[in-house]
Amino acid sequence: MEEMKKGLEGVVALDTKISFIDGIQGILMYRGIKIEELVDLPYDAVSYLLINGKLPDETELSEFSREIKNNRNINGKQIEVLKEFDFGFDALDGLRTAISCTAHFDLENNYHSPDANKNKSIKLVAKFPTIVAALHRASFNQKPIEPNEELSHGANFLYMLTGRIPTELEAEAMEKDLILSAEHELNPSTFALRIAASTLSDIYSAVICGLCTLKGPLHGGARKGVMDMLDEVSSIENVQSYVLGKLERKEKIMGFGHRVYKTLDPRARIYKDVARRLSIENGNSYWFDLAEELEHILFHEFVEVKGKPIYPNVDFYSAVVYKYLDIPAELATSIFAMGRVSGWIAHCMEQYDDNKVIRPRAHFV
Ligand code: CMC
Repeated sequence: MEEMKKGLEGVVALDTKISFIDGIQGILMYRGIKIEELVDLPYDAVSYLLINGKLPDETELSEFSREIKNNRNINGKQIEVLKEFDFGFDALDGLRTAISCTAHFDLENNYHSPDANKNKSIKLVAKFPTIVAALHRASFNQKPIEPNEELSHGANFLYMLTGRIPTELEAEAMEKDLILSAEHELNPSTFALRIAASTLSDIYSAVICGLCTLKGPLHGGARKGVMDMLDEVSSIENVQSYVLGKLERKEKIMGFGHRVYKTLDPRARIYKDVARRLSIENGNSYWFDLAEELEHILFHEFVEVKGKPIYPNVDFYSAVVYKYLDIPAELATSIFAMGRVSGWIAHCMEQYDDNKVIRPRAHFV
């Protein structure tokens, strides 16, 4: 039998046309296009690109956006079910439960035709933000806010969360966040989803596998971990002792390190710029300065002292962006999932199109 690779490190499990990562040069492409070129487009266009394999023309984009907007509403019964639970600690538990409910109310749930799969994909992309905003408001006994047709995917989410139309920069930040979170090759949640899809399970079930896997603190849960850490550090003067204490106790620093990138994650650079601009608009540079101090001290400790290629990953400056958008840490992983759902759907379709059940072997000891 072949040599076992712990954590499947370096193992190539499948071919994909959806994304490409060069972890040494720090390059990420969706469908052959660098994220730096995609990040100024609307999220809807990037979602279309991931799911359909090409960028939409003007007519295709307006039709796709219209379909998304038409499917943003969620079933009133679903809200009633969700109100029964307390998802205060992590909204992802609520989102996972809500997607199960959505599947339950979708008559096409167990139909696998291309049309049924397309309809389910639209519903998933469209409803994720509505569910996350509704869950958050329900936890304060507040009524959900109806989606606003005039707003982009990201801006509408912020609006449904607070009832306030976001500023242009806040709307841009949310759109960019969803784009940068949308896809990342065979990350753990996407791999879990592809395993489910490879058994020919339905899209909702596969997406729920993705959600369950995204939750962990070593994956998407790290974004909440960074937000908690920014609170814990409590002042810029404390950064050095906080970091050294963690490293001495051999604790992981959330938002740093990556299985594939051995240089700065290209998404982190874009998030950092958005965070800096938000800090200026807010007239408050505290979160940005704190994060930059953490980055500087950890560069010294990881790279200069230990010689390890551990740099900020996607979760580090995205957490700073969330701080400026006044997003509670409990929502961080769910918002990550709102972006990632497009990539998950693309992987589901790719798996269905050329399927072989994913079933590796274990080495018996
Ligand atoms: N803090 C402290 N030490 C670290 C960190 C970190 N964030 N990341 C890696 N290391 C050390 C680790 O202790 C190990 O040291 P040694 O060789 O002495 O045992 C070495 O670097 C290799 O780390 P690893 O955990 O074995 O590497 P991996 O490829 O299995 O794990 C990782 C990658 C992302 C899970 C890890 O870097 C980590 O736990 N980071 C913190 C959590 C995090 O930010 N996760 C988000 C990942 S990226 C986006 C996403 O998936 O959402």
